[in-house]
Amino acid sequence: MLVKASLSISNDAAVLISPMRMRINLKFLLVILIVLGTITTLTYWIRCGDVTSAPFDHLDRSNPKAGMKGNLYSLDSEDDNFSENDASPLVQEGVPLIRTRGGLKTLDDIDCLINEEYTVSCKQEDGEVFIPFTFLHEYFEVYGKVVQHNDEKHFEWQHSYSKVYHPRGKYDPHGVFMWFENYNVGVRDRVLCISGAEGVPVSTQWDPQGHLYPIQIAQFGLSHFSKNLTEKTPSIKLLDAGEIFPSAQWTMLTNGQTKSPLKRVLEKTTQKKVLEFKTDGSDTDSGLTITSKEDSNHMILTFDLMMKANVTLSVTILGGKRTIYKLHYVMTDSLLSAHENEIFFGIGTSKDWMKITRDLIVDLQKGLMLVKTSRKGTKPRSPRVRDITLRGWGYIDNITLCSSAHMAHFFAVANWFVRHQDEDGGWPIMVSRRLFPGMADLAPGWYSAMGQGQAISVLTRAFKVTGNITYLYTAMKAVKPFKVRSESHGVMTAFAGKYVWYEEYPTIPSSYVLNGFIYSLMGLYDLKMTCTHKDCKEVTKLYEDGMISLKKLLPLFDTGSGSLYDLRHYSLGVAPNLARWDYHTTHINQLLLLSTFESDPILKSVADRWIGYMKGKRAAHN
Ligand SMILES: *[C@@H]1O[C@H](CO)[C@@H](O)[C@H](O)[C@H]1NC(C)=O
Ligand SMILES: *[C@@H]1O[C@H](CO)[C@@H](O)[C@H](O)[C@H]1NC(C)=O
Ligand SMILES: *[C@@H]1O[C@H](CO)[C@@H](O)[C@H](O)[C@H]1NC(C)=O
Ligand SMILES: *[C@@H]1O[C@H](CO)[C@@H](O)[C@H](O)[C@H]1NC(C)=O
Ligand SMILES: *[C@@H]1O[C@H](CO)[C@@H](O)[C@H](O)[C@H]1NC(C)=O
Repeated sequence: MLVKASLSISNDAAVLISPMRMRINLKFLLVILIVLGTITTLTYWIRCGDVTSAPFDHLDRSNPKAGMKGNLYSLDSEDDNFSENDASPLVQEGVPLIRTRGGLKTLDDIDCLINEEYTVSCKQEDGEVFIPFTFLHEYFEVYGKVVQHNDEKHFEWQHSYSKVYHPRGKYDPHGVFMWFENYNVGVRDRVLCISGAEGVPVSTQWDPQGHLYPIQIAQFGLSHFSKNLTEKTPSIKLLDAGEIFPSAQWTMLTNGQTKSPLKRVLEKTTQKKVLEFKTDGSDTDSGLTITSKEDSNHMILTFDLMMKANVTLSVTILGGKRTIYKLHYVMTDSLLSAHENEIFFGIGTSKDWMKITRDLIVDLQKGLMLVKTSRKGTKPRSPRVRDITLRGWGYIDNITLCSSAHMAHFFAVANWFVRHQDEDGGWPIMVSRRLFPGMADLAPGWYSAMGQGQAISVLTRAFKVTGNITYLYTAMKAVKPFKVRSESHGVMTAFAGKYVWYEEYPTIPSSYVLNGFIYSLMGLYDLKMTCTHKDCKEVTKLYEDGMISLKKLLPLFDTGSGSLYDLRHYSLGVAPNLARWDYHTTHINQLLLLSTFESDPILKSVADRWIGYMKGKRAAHN
């Protein structure tokens, strides 16, 4: 089937034609061929048409996805689906060459001379010219795929590739955070693993060795918090607990020991009855094992643990065709290692009680990513727990397998923010960062307004749920860098010396990144709505000043066909930095959300206009 579409045709020779907004003004015709698909097909076309050079090479510079891997400013909003890999997410492979309504048909070849710059092989028939969609995709950055409905195939054309989340209702500063229930931060490629000792993600963004990146950590917490409010109640299987004492059956394969390796004892610090295990922890130690009914729905493991010496807790997981994988949680400070199907997570060497929550599927995937050369094989089919083995000496309690444990992940994050805040109220980011040549590098130790704001959004929710004032105090301290200028290790700047702005990247000169600024405002808003005490008055002022700037400066981010990521063109006099579609959509999602509690109509009207840009609409021209 052939799909035709007409782009607007203009005969006005005075129209400025730039690749992005070019109107095709060939007199009659136009557009579309559909769909060719495989690389083979494409190569065939290129070869059989008499094209001067590989025709699409030069387009790379205008392809938003090309070169994204090394793009330093491409990943900060920590959004899902900001994929580094998929060069053309919606161009599908394996589609037949050329078809028309009447079935297969031979069309005449014709060269298309593109802006007098190069040639593309096209087809023509009856005054209609058909241009390869792969070309249009690259040239106009539009997306398309063939979709099959029963017997019918059609082609779906899209101007953008990302998704607008329309708010369900007024934003609740203690409820779901924005649209974050849709995110799965743990499985993102930029997450090296979830740290065994702290239960927070370790980021490989800007440092392949991994670092603790406050923005990613906060987003992990906020998405779990939001899922807790939107998903169904988890199912929990208790394997053993000292107090409850279900009929747990532990086995020991080779029992070289005379004393029983497992006791139920009253533990001094908690005054709770817990299990004490004591095996020699050596290489030949087979340990104490408890089996579980194999079940792929209960893949979150939680337990309370106090380690004495040489502790390893090992989980045997079956996947696919009964392949055996082992996850070992070991009393060591190293992070993660793997050897074939055996994966080792360090859980630290603390001798205090710890609450440990592990998403076994994420752990398995992160471990396998270390040993597999490709993505293939990193996601075993329907993994399920067969048994759990304890070795070494320690106390354990409340061993459960659950379908989810969102609040446990959330509190791991909230407690991380409490433990790691520095005396200036910040969470320093320990990698060096260059936003753009001409802007000074951010030296390790910089703060981000977005990191501060999202941490505040975590902490105010933790306070609201627990009533524990420590979380609120930590959030209040986190406001300090908002009052300090970028030059002095803060996150604040002012546009034209007048409009205050909180910087995701406190660069010199200022960069004015829009999405990070709005996230930071959300944090201030959450705190202002949580703390009515007079000590929190300044938060209200910081928020209100920021909102004034946002409303005033928002039009500067509007290109008439998209939005700008930042204002580097103002600061440095360079070319403007267009927001790719996923950032553009983030802007829209943020504005729609703000407009549920901020009455100024500019937020909604800009968001609506920007939604139009995603369908190819543009501001009127003269
Ligand atoms: C990411 O993409 C997948 C597959 O295209 C989709 O199912 C999912 O909803 C997307 N996630 C977000 C947050 O947009
Ligand atoms: C959310 O958290 C509450 C309190 O911890 C818990 O009772 C509930 O089951 C959780 N629900 C989900 C879906 O995680
Ligand atoms: C821990 O393991 C080491 C080496 O296997 C052994 O020398 C040591 O005695 C063990 N410690 C305890 C308390 O079992
Ligand atoms: C096990 O869970 C119970 C119930 O939540 C709790 O009271 C107890 O303190 C937990 N055990 C430990 C060692 O934390
Ligand atoms: C409040 O939270 C902090 C940080 O996690 C924790 O250290 C403290 O024990 C908690 N206080 C209470 C009373 O639960």
